Amino acid sequence: MSLQLGQVPAIVISSSKAAESFLKTHDINFASRPKIQGSELLSYGSKGMAFSEYSPYWRNVRKLCTVKLLSASKVEMFGPIRKEELGVLVKSLEKAALVGEVVNVSDVVENLIEEIMYKMILGRSKYEQFDLKKLVQRATILVGAFNLADYVPWLGAFDIQGLTRSCKETSKSLDEVLEAIITEHEQTTNVDIHREDFVDILLSVTSQAINPENEQNLVIDRTNIKAILLDMIVAAVDTSATVIEWTLSELLSHPRVMKILQDEIQNEVGSKRMVEEKDLKKLNYLDMVIDEALRLYPVAPLLVPRECRESITIDGYFIKEKTRVIVNAWAIGRDLNVWSKNAEEFYPERFINKKMNYQGQDFESIPFGSGRRRCPGIQLGLATVKLVIAQLVHCFNWELPYNINPSNLNMEEKFGLSIPRAQHLHAIPSYRLSSDIKHE
Ligand code: HEM
Repeated sequence: MSLQLGQVPAIVISSSKAAESFLKTHDINFASRPKIQGSELLSYGSKGMAFSEYSPYWRNVRKLCTVKLLSASKVEMFGPIRKEELGVLVKSLEKAALVGEVVNVSDVVENLIEEIMYKMILGRSKYEQFDLKKLVQRATILVGAFNLADYVPWLGAFDIQGLTRSCKETSKSLDEVLEAIITEHEQTTNVDIHREDFVDILLSVTSQAINPENEQNLVIDRTNIKAILLDMIVAAVDTSATVIEWTLSELLSHPRVMKILQDEIQNEVGSKRMVEEKDLKKLNYLDMVIDEALRLYPVAPLLVPRECRESITIDGYFIKEKTRVIVNAWAIGRDLNVWSKNAEEFYPERFINKKMNYQGQDFESIPFGSGRRRCPGIQLGLATVKLVIAQLVHCFNWELPYNINPSNLNMEEKFGLSIPRAQHLHAIPSYRLSSDIKHE
């Protein structure tokens, strides 16, 4: 589909076949991002990873982040944070269960993921002087907002929606916070005292060439570090929390699926202990449940926009340089021709003979995008989402409050950078493990 969005020509990709053509066969030609005002203002002139154009800078930053922050060994290294934070949540839910309290699941999940990701990225999540979480939430809303200036650039000067002013204000406050955090890390260089986090790792490579074999020998500085940290937080928190929120919603509306999942975990883990990360690889039905939730609710339903680097003709269609490419992952995951007549239904068993790995081979469901710009946080995202879901359904039975019938649970979505539930999910937990198990 071809669209003219203000002054910007755009095409929309809505089938897995076309996605393969753009994100695999011709990936290098579509591996750039358009400049968008929100990220220019909030991310130091798009100096992070997600919105920077395809360039030696982006390639080097991506390599740095993939190797030093998001590799399998780093995902494992940060495992204790996930375990601790989840332990704290389970304890507080146990108390809620004792009195039959209705829990705002959306809120507790968001808070949990914030705690996990902030501690991993910045070392801690709370500061007396500033409300970092609020600031990041505001920045996320601003980057995801529909900004007229991105489509009719001359209107930008008038700032009709007030977004330029808001972006500048938020960016200034965020910069002050990030400066304070980096300074705090520089002053506490002994990582034995505090656990190593992303800030320490990035500071340890400041002023070194990112990729010594590369003739473009880029060196990262303080501004780059701030932009990368911000990108990591924005990319990690909302996405992971939203996947968990939708998966739990579907489990609550499908008691049959919930039971099979709880039985699977029960068989592997038993009722005398909590789930551990090493258990996850044995939980095949859990994988299917999450693949199914990601198919129906890709949290970035239009991925992150791409931009055509050089004019090209594909399947007889001429695509001009700088055309914006929007990939409709939402439509691809619901394509009746690929997913059969029950494509709209939550039915994890469809993945029995189809193992998804999201590494760029399959185009029938692309919740992490594909090609050079695909999500570099897949392993971290999946490890977090799987552990949280497994733990919450292993430790508790969940019931919808106010006599809501599971099949009538409201599943409306809200528009933004990610697509969360329009209404928060509420449920009543009841503890289902032996009462004598220890939380570490
Ligand atoms: C389950 C959770 C997650 C989902 C569903 C998700 C999804 C996505 C999607 C759809 C994209 C755009 C891909 C494209 O344009 O083809 C993306 C990009 C990105 N994601 Fe994730 N993501 C998740 C978790 C994470 C985590 C935990 C991190 C890191 C801490 C992360 C970091 C990034 C970054 C940096 C990019 C931009 C990559 C680039 O432009 O080169 N994501 N993600």
